Formats: sequence, structure tokens, C-alpha cells
Amino acid sequence: MKKVSIIGAGNVGATSVYYIAEKNIADIVMVDVVEGLAEKKALDFLHSAALRNYNISITGSNDYSKMRDSDVVVVTAGVPRKPGMNRMDLLKTNVSIVKIVSQKIAQYCPNAVVIVVTNPLDIIAMVVLRETGFALKKVVGMAGALDSTRFRYFIAERLGVWPGDVMTMVLGGHGDEMVPLKGYTSVGGFPVNQFLDDASIEVMIKRTRDGGGEIVKYLKTGSAFYAPGASVAKMVEAIIKDERRIMAASAYLRGEYGYHNTYLGVPVLLGKNGVEKIITIELTPDEKQALDASANAVREGIAMLETFYAPG
Ligand SMILES: NC(=O)c1ccc[n+]([C@@H]2O[C@H](COP(=O)([O-])OP(=O)(O)OC[C@H]3O[C@@H](n4cnc5c(N)ncnc54)[C@H](O)[C@@H]3O)[C@@H](O)[C@H]2O)c1
Repeated sequence: MKKVSIIGAGNVGATSVYYIAEKNIADIVMVDVVEGLAEKKALDFLHSAALRNYNISITGSNDYSKMRDSDVVVVTAGVPRKPGMNRMDLLKTNVSIVKIVSQKIAQYCPNAVVIVVTNPLDIIAMVVLRETGFALKKVVGMAGALDSTRFRYFIAERLGVWPGDVMTMVLGGHGDEMVPLKGYTSVGGFPVNQFLDDASIEVMIKRTRDGGGEIVKYLKTGSAFYAPGASVAKMVEAIIKDERRIMAASAYLRGEYGYHNTYLGVPVLLGKNGVEKIITIELTPDEKQALDASANAVREGIAMLETFYAPG
């Protein structure tokens, strides 16, 4: 049996476990620093095994060594931004958390593919890459899968079609910096502009861009976790089953799309080694400009990181 470890048994971590368990593709270990939390959730998941048709091992622990020899490790450990906390405070706190987590991953799972979820995503992915010392393709960030599924849903809802029949790709960073590719969006294989005019598509792009914020507004003290958990599960499945799926994810770029030494959301081919390939497609001048803005925002984040962080 393959093995997947989820670091951080909070909202996104636990929801990821929920969706992965139902696929019956791997044993699952949850690790959290809060005493009893991962154990409780693991046991609760197991109680539903008979009803939800899974027959895998799910365990929870405070002990990082329990993730030993995992094939995939998902990093959701971190704190959300609290009132009074600025971006720099959040970055410093989450960097200190993922630094420890990454060192443990390198120690116990030297062959794993790591999916990074903790925000600010592209920056944290950079820290995980440096701290694990893993190959570039082995550390990938989850963001594009989430933005893409939100965009797919909004289009499907508007057209009254099955969401799975809408295909699209959302590149770049999260939120304001995301870059939905209208020209590569299709419904049942037909270009989306056969169904909707530009103004209507723009409304859905805006809703996708504000998708995370809309949920935070309702929740007030937390952020989205069902769709993020489902996005993580999709990536885990692609890697565990070596499906070679094409999806948007944050990958380390070395010149692709004109960007160097940075993480950014791009189309990738996901397989057993992680990012098997970065897929380069032609962008319109507008899309390229939007992606440049995204890359600049990540660069600013990396510059912020460099002011206090040294690997090791
Ligand atoms: N990339 C994305 O698209 C995306 C989407 C949603 C959330 N996120 C991010 O994912 C992260 C988790 O979100 P959440 O809603 O699950 O938060 P949460 O607060 O519910 O869960 C985080 C968990 O991490 C645990 N933790 C903290 N330090 C740890 C450590 N050193 N080792 C192990 N566990 C540790 C906490 O105890 C907590 O249970 C946040 O940074 C959030 O911003 C990213």
C-alpha cells in the first residue's frame, strides 16, 4: 500500500484526508502539534469506513516519525492570518513552522513528493524546497487546481451544465494575481465563447478571483477547506497512481514562461515523481502581462523572505 502523510490536521488537512480515504489508494497518516487532534480525527474517519467503503489505515500522531517512508507528504501546517497580524508576521510564523516540518520530511521521507498548501503558497513552497533539499520536481504547490475548479463551477452553474464538462486552466498566484485562461476554457470540448459573451465570462473571472475572500467573509475566522481539500486529493491521486494528469500547480521555474528561480502557478504534468513536466503554452499579450504581475508579486514575497530567512 502506498502511504500519504498530511502535516496539519486542521480544516484543509482533515478535509484532504476525507477525500483521499474515499479513493482507497493509500494508507494515511495525519500529524499535528495539537495533542490528540490528529488521533481523534483519524479514529473518527475510521469509524465511517464501513459506511464509506474504505479499507485503509488512517492514523494520527504528534510524532513526525510516523510519516516515515511516505510516498506523498502534504504540508498544511501553519496559522491563518489573525486580526492585527500583517503579511510579514504571517510569513515569519509560517516559515518557522514549515522549516521544522520540512526538515522532518527530509529526515523521514527522503523519496516523497511534497504538496505544499500553507500560505503564502509560492513563498512557502520555496522554503520547503530549500529546507528539504529535494529535487525541484518533488516540491509542488496547490493553488491552480483550486482556482480552476472554482472557475469551472461558476461557468457550469451559469450554463446549467455538469461542472466536470467545463475545462479550464487558471495560472499565476492566488487572488488578485490569478490568471484565468479564457482562450483555453471549453464546455464539452467547445470554446466557452460559443456559450457566453466576454462580459459574462469576466463576471465569473471576478467571482473566481474573489472566491477565497467570499468564503472568508462568511466564515470570519477561517478560510475555505472543502474545495482546497478536494484539490489536494486530486493532486495526491495523480501522483500515487502515476496518472500523468495535466493541471495547474505552483512549480519551480527555471526560465519557463520567461521566469527564473521562482515558484508560480503554471500547467504541469503530475505523475509519480511530482512535476514530470512543465507545460509551456502560448499566451496572449494580456495573459502574459497578467502573469508578469503575478510573478512580480511572488518576487516581492521572496524579497520579503530574504530579509529574515536563511536556509538550514
Ligand atoms: N494553497 C491554497 O490554495 C490554500 C487553500 C486553503 C488554505 N490554505 C492554507 O493552508 C493552511 C492551513 O489552513 P487550514 O484552514 O487547514 O488551517 P487550520 O488552522 O485549520 O489548520 C492548520 C493546522 O496546522 C497545525 N500546525 C501548526 N503548526 C504545526 C506543526 N509545526 N506541525 C504540524 N501541525 C502544525 C495546527 O495545529 C492546525 O491544526 C493555511 O496556511 C491556509 O492559508 C491554502
